[in-house]
Amino acid sequence: MTETAKLKLNDNTYELPIMTSVEGEKAIDIRKLREETKYVTFDPGFANTGSCISSITYLDGEKGVLRYRGIPIEQIAKKSTFVETAYLLINGQLPTKEQLFRYSLAFTKHANIHESMLKFFEGYPITGHPMAILSAMVCSLSGYYPELIMPEPSALEIENISIELLSKIRTICAYTYKKSAGEQFIFPREDLRYIPNFLNMMFTTPTKEYEILDEVVEALDTLLILHADHEQNCSTSSVRLVGSSWANLFASVSAGICALWGPLHGGANQNVVEMLEKIHEDGGNIQKYIDKAKNADSNYRLMGFGHRVYKKYDPRAKIIKKRADDLLNKLGIHDPLLDIAVKLEEAVLKDEYFVKRRLYPNVDFYSGLIYKTIGIPTNMFPVLFAIGRLPGWIAHWKEMQEDKTSRIGRPRQIYYGKQERDYTPIEERKLI
Ligand code: CMC
Repeated sequence: MTETAKLKLNDNTYELPIMTSVEGEKAIDIRKLREETKYVTFDPGFANTGSCISSITYLDGEKGVLRYRGIPIEQIAKKSTFVETAYLLINGQLPTKEQLFRYSLAFTKHANIHESMLKFFEGYPITGHPMAILSAMVCSLSGYYPELIMPEPSALEIENISIELLSKIRTICAYTYKKSAGEQFIFPREDLRYIPNFLNMMFTTPTKEYEILDEVVEALDTLLILHADHEQNCSTSSVRLVGSSWANLFASVSAGICALWGPLHGGANQNVVEMLEKIHEDGGNIQKYIDKAKNADSNYRLMGFGHRVYKKYDPRAKIIKKRADDLLNKLGIHDPLLDIAVKLEEAVLKDEYFVKRRLYPNVDFYSGLIYKTIGIPTNMFPVLFAIGRLPGWIAHWKEMQEDKTSRIGRPRQIYYGKQERDYTPIEERKLI
């Protein structure tokens, strides 16, 4: 017999179906609630709301588990590459050798952006935040590739548009950086793989070729893999919400980039390093910043700590912390900010305020230190997060396109405004 939940409202009892995920989690299906009872549910921030059925990523925040298409993140981070991970997330299976070869080749082929788009970069002020430029450029792709944005795309059209976007995003990101650095664009090269190509476009100049170090490529690969998907987070939900109106992939991803930019989400990596620099300049007084974050009268938060779903150490942060340590050791760099980060983490993990609220370091706490070591400027950190999260956004947009039962996203509200009243002519209005 199907399991149900009973809801008693005044004298009536309603039976609501219970859904069980493949991992055994339960959900009360309230799809018919309003129709049958005239009631809606109230859940700001959607902390208890399942917005879709998904088969992409599994996350158990209580146990610190994260799996892409069933494969533990620890295995993927150790054995895979970002390009292979993108294939896995979007297509549901790891590629064969031949499939991966053809996928990588397609990235090489589509790396250039339309020549006239280069002019857009000229129009931005040199100080423009890279995330503002990135979101605008990604949305603009809709205007340049109309053949890729047809309604009800076929499987082949979805594959083509995904490859175009995955390949072009790193070119756009690198040009965004070149614009802010006042340097000439370096075009993509056919002989370089995904990450070396990106690093070359970022750091080579007309007078000096950038030396691509394996350690740097590996560290960046790991970071992008760890950011590749995180089920229904704020930016992915934005991509889904925009895409639910049948908006095209470029427009939907552009919305995801805007959502990611916020300091509570992907913008946190930039804020973490700025916070660590501030603590460093302030003489390393960690306790002062912990106390500030604990003060209920201030809005200040320790950036890089806490998570909506992880109530245990974020498994991604564990891997990144080790990567940061390894990279600095291999390159023989001593960064005082890493020392501050380690001390801050130690103090926070012992502090009652953070222990009680189960606030642990998240993915953004150590990632910025790796970007900094590679030479990426602080305001570009969220841009790197966007490159990493792109396979996830695409996978979710695709999943929604393929699900013929999905509906336009349209939440309800609980209205607390004025009740009906008459319009007042202007001469009778008083200052309230
Ligand atoms: N520093 C100090 N206090 C905190 C912090 C923090 N970083 N995070 C949460 N709290 C407190 C918060 O004040 C609240 O306290 P109280 O119960 O006394 O009101 C309690 O912990 C619960 O916080 P919340 O805001 O209700 O939790 P949330 O699930 O709505 O927010 C979060 C999650 C990630 C937005 C939040 O922890 C935060 O602002 N962290 C700092 C920003 C950050 O690092 N963001 C990156 C998240 S990981 C990357 C990603 O996937 O986006």
